[in-house]
Amino acid sequence: MMALSARLWRLPSRFCASSAVLASKRCLGRVECKSSTLLLVDSRHYNNNGSVNPPCPQRVSSVRGYAQHPTPDAASRNRLMWLVYFSGFIGAFMFFAVIRREFKKYQKKKRGIVEMKIPAFGHRIFICKYKDFVLFDTVGQNIEELERFAVREDDVWLVGWPRSGTTWSQEIIYLIQTGLDFEGAGSAPLDDRFPYLEFQYPGYEAIAKYPSPRLIKSHLPFHLLPGDIHVKKPKIIYIARNPKDIIVSYYHFIRMLLPFRFTGQFPEFFNLFLSDQLPYSPWWKHVREFWEHRNENNILFIKYEDLQKDLRGVIREISQFLGKNLTEEQVEAIAEHCTFHKMKTNHCVNHTWFENLGLKRKGEADFIRKGRIGDWKNYMTAEMSGRVDKLLEQKLGDTDLNFEFSPQEE
Ligand code: A3P
Repeated sequence: MMALSARLWRLPSRFCASSAVLASKRCLGRVECKSSTLLLVDSRHYNNNGSVNPPCPQRVSSVRGYAQHPTPDAASRNRLMWLVYFSGFIGAFMFFAVIRREFKKYQKKKRGIVEMKIPAFGHRIFICKYKDFVLFDTVGQNIEELERFAVREDDVWLVGWPRSGTTWSQEIIYLIQTGLDFEGAGSAPLDDRFPYLEFQYPGYEAIAKYPSPRLIKSHLPFHLLPGDIHVKKPKIIYIARNPKDIIVSYYHFIRMLLPFRFTGQFPEFFNLFLSDQLPYSPWWKHVREFWEHRNENNILFIKYEDLQKDLRGVIREISQFLGKNLTEEQVEAIAEHCTFHKMKTNHCVNHTWFENLGLKRKGEADFIRKGRIGDWKNYMTAEMSGRVDKLLEQKLGDTDLNFEFSPQEE
């Protein structure tokens, strides 16, 4: 019994001794005096009868050999320690990053937000689906706060699908609403004077503190606008544009914006639009919702093509809607300020700040690009155009909403 327990004792003690020596040699390269003594004691020889023999001379010398191993400098010990700390830190960081990501995913799912991965955008998750609409991820994350945004009765809202002529309408509305404040229009970027609700700059929290009467732009569909909007009923102007020109204009816009990393060709983008996979899609539903509410007192529905055909007429229509009486000279002055060429070179509206922010891909089209009706004919085949017509018929055919696809002179 004694012999057995002695054998059992010998196994782990030997193992510990040799591993400790090996570890100290490999890692620290130095064995303290105390530890060598301990090793000697631990590696004592046991007889079969369990009595302890004096330490084996060979073992002593070999262990002493370790103990006498040349002492490496303190710097290598420190290096090793830092390596251990650093790996621990990286490991912990990665662990928490994964936990955080999974938790965020879970939270989003709970709120009805579904992440979307589009191969054309390099599988990056930056768009999501919420209540049947595609949104930028940044918008999806704040959608509840946006839905709770406090609307004021004297706000003026401009809503429209991206690339429908919102910038153009914003400048017109700004001038009408401020009594033709050209000085103000020339002294600050449009994003400050007429902020974009769901965009990071200046952000909905800052907009909430803007003094009345506020001008607010949004690309959100009717049912995702702040709930208050349906109670306070501020004036809302909705701008629509024919979908074929929108597809072409949006294609250039997305290519131009670096964060999208989209370098695909037009047919690929065209399919993304038609399959409702682009931010703020589906376009058909976006337009339809506002068309159905167009007769409400606080809503004015305008079209890009009408601005092109009769800019002065639309300026008058907007000013009447906003309760501002303009003289013919004032209408003329606004129209003059808002021509395509003036706006393209006006640094307060042409979004050249995208370049300064490093958001614009070199060599791509400007934000204010061609400004024409019918540019789609340079991009779409007859088959593509037919597919859009078919979808228009399917999705909006039961309404009396129609669009112009060609400039007047054709
Ligand atoms: P194109 O890309 O077809 O040129 P939004 O401001 O909603 O993003 O819309 C941008 C589209 O409106 C662009 O269309 C842009 O050129 C056009 N646009 C902007 N200002 C314009 C103006 N003063 N006259 C005509 N089109 C204008």
